[in-house]
Amino acid sequence: MKVTVFGIGYVGLVQAAVLAGVGHNVVCVDVNEKRVEELKNGQIPIYEPGLTPLVQDNVSAGRLDFTTDAKRGVEHGKIQFIAVGTPPDEDGSADLQYVLNVARTIAEYMQEHRIVVDKSTVPVGTADKVSAQMREVLARRGVDLGFDVVSNPEFLKEGAAVADCQRPDRIIIGTDSAAVEEKMRELYAPFNRNHDRIIVMDVRSAELTKYAANCMLATKISFMNEIANLAERLGADIEHVRQGIGSDPRIGYSFIYPGCGYGGSCFPKDVQALVRTAEKTGYQPELLKSVEAVNYRQKNKLFEHLSHYFDGDLAGKKIALWGLSFKPNTDDMRDASSRVLMEALWEVGASVQAYDPEAMNETQRIYGNRADLSLMGTKEAALNGADALVICTEWNIFKAPDFDVIKDALNYPLIVDGRNQYEPSIVESYGLAYYGIGRGRSV
Ligand code: NAD
Ligand code: UGA
Repeated sequence: MKVTVFGIGYVGLVQAAVLAGVGHNVVCVDVNEKRVEELKNGQIPIYEPGLTPLVQDNVSAGRLDFTTDAKRGVEHGKIQFIAVGTPPDEDGSADLQYVLNVARTIAEYMQEHRIVVDKSTVPVGTADKVSAQMREVLARRGVDLGFDVVSNPEFLKEGAAVADCQRPDRIIIGTDSAAVEEKMRELYAPFNRNHDRIIVMDVRSAELTKYAANCMLATKISFMNEIANLAERLGADIEHVRQGIGSDPRIGYSFIYPGCGYGGSCFPKDVQALVRTAEKTGYQPELLKSVEAVNYRQKNKLFEHLSHYFDGDLAGKKIALWGLSFKPNTDDMRDASSRVLMEALWEVGASVQAYDPEAMNETQRIYGNRADLSLMGTKEAALNGADALVICTEWNIFKAPDFDVIKDALNYPLIVDGRNQYEPSIVESYGLAYYGIGRGRSV
């Protein structure tokens, strides 16, 4: 099938490449000329395992192309995906300007029926707004062309985006049109072979399903962080508690890892956006507001512990930092816990010596050159002359370090572990002080 994808970010690019990979013919449109140019030259703007060969192979095969020419994009696909950003606006609601811009663009150039698919994460009622904008443009053009708007939210995780897209747990299709359902089933048939992963529902329920999924996951994390904080005060070890409750299949093991808070481009913004949506209906979402508040507090924990250890005297201290991205296997720094820590350290006159396997360029892009940030070539180099080590992201290469090397390199023998990577007794056997999250030691 001929498909067009507006927005070549994490979602748009991965979705486009995966659709092309099963034989669909995909044109991607973006307003970012540099990004389009780079992609045309085989340069992939984001780090995502498996993405580079998938894009390059499909470009070579002529099934995947990139353009800034929106008219060409609208002419190409019977199905038009909207996969642009929906960042928070000033009050935390999802900012729909990019989505609605694309809707108007499609209406501006379409010459025949189009199926417009909201792939971006958008608040309930957005499909109606997309339709209204399109109708307005079509009326101005004086043409009578039909279109359908479908909600088809994306559930991929960064760091596993290609695999998630190729083998989705479910494909949510929000539509009340049998003809549209049939087309969407045809599009997704290659991903729906062994058992039926497609769940069809009305548009508003599909839109809410996306927020409910992210908010449920964020709730699990904040719940666990709350229990971890309690465990510290009560002298219990959250790692035992995690296993103890995860073994109940009604609770499950996933998304109950305590840590230095959830980050990324989605949980923080989506929890906030659902809170605003709820408030606009006159409903106070107490649970969701607490999920947000607990996460905000959790992101400060690493700094609080360092401050406690150094008796509030962090000025002039140099902190080694392992892991900058908001989670492993991505270079994404959006809302990363490392940023909260670094900015708090800089505020009190401390400096940071950091290493991350993929997010160094992104960190450099965000913070530029500053005297209190050194980006080092290896995890060992980040330790040299540092006063203490903090771990913000659980990359594999941090999992089994040489604790003797760490002990020798640091001026003070302290590891502050925001992702509970080590057994406290093992670390301590090397003469290092260890602080994990919820491991029986209160700050
Ligand atoms: P992104 O910021 O990485 O990419 C968005 C792209 O859209 C950019 O390249 C931008 O230049 C482009 N764009 C903006 N206006 C445009 C226009 N008028 N025409 C064409 N292109 C335009 O965003 P993302 O992380 O891919 O997220 C996109 C949406 O998907 C968001 O709503 C997000 O919440 C949702 N989502 C993201 C993820 C994720 O893991 N990143 C997962 C599921 C859902
Ligand atoms: C999340 C969802 O998992 C995806 O299903 C969804 O499509 C996506 O948001 C989205 O809407 O954009 P992502 O943000 O890529 O995906 O990453 P996650 O693996 O969910 O991790 C998010 C944050 O939670 C990370 O900072 C991670 O460190 C943290 N986390 C995760 C924990 O602190 N504990 C856990 O047990 C799991």
